[in-house]
Amino acid sequence: MKRKILLIGLISLLTALVLSACAGDVESTTEENSDMEQESGENMDMNEEKSDSMEEGMDHSTMNHDMEGHMDHDDVVSLNDSTGENELKIPSMLESDNEEELVYTVRAQEGETEIFDGTKTKTYGYNGSFLGPVLRFEKGDTVKIRTINELDEETTFHWHGLEVSGEEDGGPHSVIEPGEEKLIEFEVTQEASTLWFHPHPDGKTSEQVYNGLAGLIYIEDDNSKNLGLPDEYGKNDIPLIFQDKTFDDEKQLNYSAAMNEDGTIGEKSLINGTLNPKLTVNKEKVRLRLLNGSNARNYTFKLNTGDSFVQVATDGGFLNEPVTLSEITLTPSERAEIVIDFSQLNTEDELALINEGDGSILLPFEISDQSGEDSSIPEEMNDFSITEEEMNLPVTKEVELFGMMDQVTINGKKFDPDRIDFTQEQGVTEVWEIYNKPDEMGGMIHPFHIHGAQFKILSRNGEEPPENERGWKDTISVEPDETVKIAVQFKNKGVYMFHCHILEHEDNGMMGQVKVE
Ligand code: C2O
Ligand code: CU
Ligand code: CU
Repeated sequence: MKRKILLIGLISLLTALVLSACAGDVESTTEENSDMEQESGENMDMNEEKSDSMEEGMDHSTMNHDMEGHMDHDDVVSLNDSTGENELKIPSMLESDNEEELVYTVRAQEGETEIFDGTKTKTYGYNGSFLGPVLRFEKGDTVKIRTINELDEETTFHWHGLEVSGEEDGGPHSVIEPGEEKLIEFEVTQEASTLWFHPHPDGKTSEQVYNGLAGLIYIEDDNSKNLGLPDEYGKNDIPLIFQDKTFDDEKQLNYSAAMNEDGTIGEKSLINGTLNPKLTVNKEKVRLRLLNGSNARNYTFKLNTGDSFVQVATDGGFLNEPVTLSEITLTPSERAEIVIDFSQLNTEDELALINEGDGSILLPFEISDQSGEDSSIPEEMNDFSITEEEMNLPVTKEVELFGMMDQVTINGKKFDPDRIDFTQEQGVTEVWEIYNKPDEMGGMIHPFHIHGAQFKILSRNGEEPPENERGWKDTISVEPDETVKIAVQFKNKGVYMFHCHILEHEDNGMMGQVKVE
């Protein structure tokens, strides 16, 4: 612990020096690593070669990590404190193109965004220059989306957490070339939840997300509309997309300079694309829909006062009962909805959402003197359950996560678009066992995600999952040496990806395919 604090101090001092040195460094490491990969591909004795190159890889990475402050897997550069000088931007809600049917148009485009006062930063966005609008669907809707690629490079449109067919899912096989478009259509069959969308082109996902391609999807249903939870969008129901980025001297996003094979971590905290944000709230309960939209950073959200809050939803729906927490960790792509009660606070109270670990201030709240709505948190919110039968199913899919940097694998293999790793029958529940195999340095957390399905966590290392994970999930954090059992059922057919959601790991091949028929 002490070492960590010292290290963080050291890092902040050295940051300026390091930034200039790093760009060159990372590039040369990348070259060397890809050479290594070729070597290991040619060698018959894969295992031996792999462990050799792992060691080599680790030397480079230690060098690199030393300078960037990753030293071992969990020492990361700290985030800036938000000064609170900018009111948080709230993404717009996307309207249907016409009234007769629900057709939404989503364009991936390039643009310029004033992230820093008076400076234009080149960014990517959906229907705008940075990030995207919220798509709001109701359960039962038939939705069409016209996806248009206005970028100069290929992209895909992936609906993370949405239960749609493999055709609509927008994985790496569904490339849309520059200037091209594709119309998809699906029925919304799942319950109220906060999902998101982002690109998924093979090997280019991290850079495109980093440059700004990400947006939210809300699903509402009768239950969500009748629970009485705060639901005034932008007032007491607030989307929060957390991302960390590094800007160069020109205040540009220079992905190749910032890139780390083991997950790109930035030192500037952005929420909904806002630097130094604050959120003004009335004296009422406020619902925050948290999305860890970063490439690789884990966030642990906490209030600066240590006060507790209540979690009401997981990735894919409401919890049965609200769970009181004093902190919550979200790994990349995980979501949680929490409710904070501001009704008893005063305008001079200094409350902020902070990131436990480096203690950085993410989002200071400004409490207005207005009292707001008198909303409540119901005791019963959902009927999520795990059946006896599901608990007793044998494990039929085993997934072993292993490695670091560009040496990451699933079951010893790297992604091959032409290889189907698993098959599963539509509508049939199977138990997947996910194991995170430690490496010589201990290993790191891998957030494991499956496309096209919401699943249930049956156990973590044989134990019941924590209360706030007893709900629908599409991504789970798996600690080194941890085994997580999940019950997975696909409602639709098609080829779906499963992968580590550290985007550089995904791009480096920590991904497989399940074919549902
Ligand atoms: Cu967020 Cu492959 O997905
Ligand atoms: Cu996904
Ligand atoms: Cu990973």
